Amino acid sequence: MTRVTASTDDIEKAAAVLRAGGLVALPTETVYGLGADAEDPAAVARIFQVKGRPPSHPLIVHIGGAEQLDDWVKDVPATARLLAEHFWPGPLTLVLRRGSRVPLEATGGLETVAVRVPDHPVALALLAAFGGGVTAPSANRFGRVSPTTANDVRAEFGEAVDFVLDGGPCEVGVESTIVDVTGDVPSILRPGGVTREDLEAVLGFPLSVPSTSPIRVPGRHPSHYAPQARVVLVEPEKIVAEAELARDLGHRVGVFLPAPLTGTPVRAHAVVAVPASTAAYARGLYGFLRRLDRQGCDLIIASLPEEEGLGLAIANRLRRAAGPRPTP
Ligand code: TXA
Ligand code: MG
Repeated sequence: MTRVTASTDDIEKAAAVLRAGGLVALPTETVYGLGADAEDPAAVARIFQVKGRPPSHPLIVHIGGAEQLDDWVKDVPATARLLAEHFWPGPLTLVLRRGSRVPLEATGGLETVAVRVPDHPVALALLAAFGGGVTAPSANRFGRVSPTTANDVRAEFGEAVDFVLDGGPCEVGVESTIVDVTGDVPSILRPGGVTREDLEAVLGFPLSVPSTSPIRVPGRHPSHYAPQARVVLVEPEKIVAEAELARDLGHRVGVFLPAPLTGTPVRAHAVVAVPASTAAYARGLYGFLRRLDRQGCDLIIASLPEEEGLGLAIANRLRRAAGPRPTP
């Protein structure tokens, strides 16, 4: 169970901040979000400013229940209803056609909008008290590691956020799965907390996912979900040797030691014992990256988990974290 630390008073205060056009950091089951009134273009603009996010990068509108879906989008296909019914509240985001309530500022100018119902008692209480929709990207600076505790949010933004609601550490730990249901065939735009296997079991047909090819087109996917330290991905059996080589070259190396290697001695600045269960790995992932940054690592050596279940989302985030840095 998620530890709920926000009081009824806090919820009321946060709802008042949203009504006044302010920014509220809120817990969800995936990661903490940086929320604003979805219908207030000025408040939405502040999210982009505070995050340092390009205005063309669309946001997710969080709503209080599946029954509100038609207030925010139009032309909802049967597949979307089916998925909403099975997975909401939960870590699934549906991309649908934009309804007139959603300003173009929130969608980066797109005629589609991403919507989800978060599965966290504090988020749901806030949405109920506020009454409207809350646009919320992950509460981190653009391209950086997403926050999974209220303290991560405070460390990231300090006074730039008007109110931080503390709902304890996030249970899922990676962002929602985004499914585009606007086309003839639904497709996964971002793997996340709801697994591909679970979606396919409900839909009854296979889904396409973004390329998992290790071959990178230079510059195509600038790094995202990235710690300060450079992330380098190697084959699991090479982890110890690569880490020690980098250390001998003078790096302050952090190692993600895969579960089968737990206990293997490795000469490195810091070692994270990767949990054997993918649910625990997903829950801990961003915290591990933040910890290695705090410990002063300049290089993180990791390997990709099997890309099934939550392993697909973990591998996606590690690949993006290791992607090319945007040119300064
Ligand atoms: O778990 C989550 O989804 C968290 C929590 C706070 O709900 N939110 C989150 O938001 O991860 P953000 O802004 O960090 O990522 C939203 C993603 C972006 O990659 C964006 O491109 C995509 O959603 N997105 C939003 N609207 C879209 C649209 N209309 N079409 C395609 N992609 C969209
Ligand atoms: Mg994000």
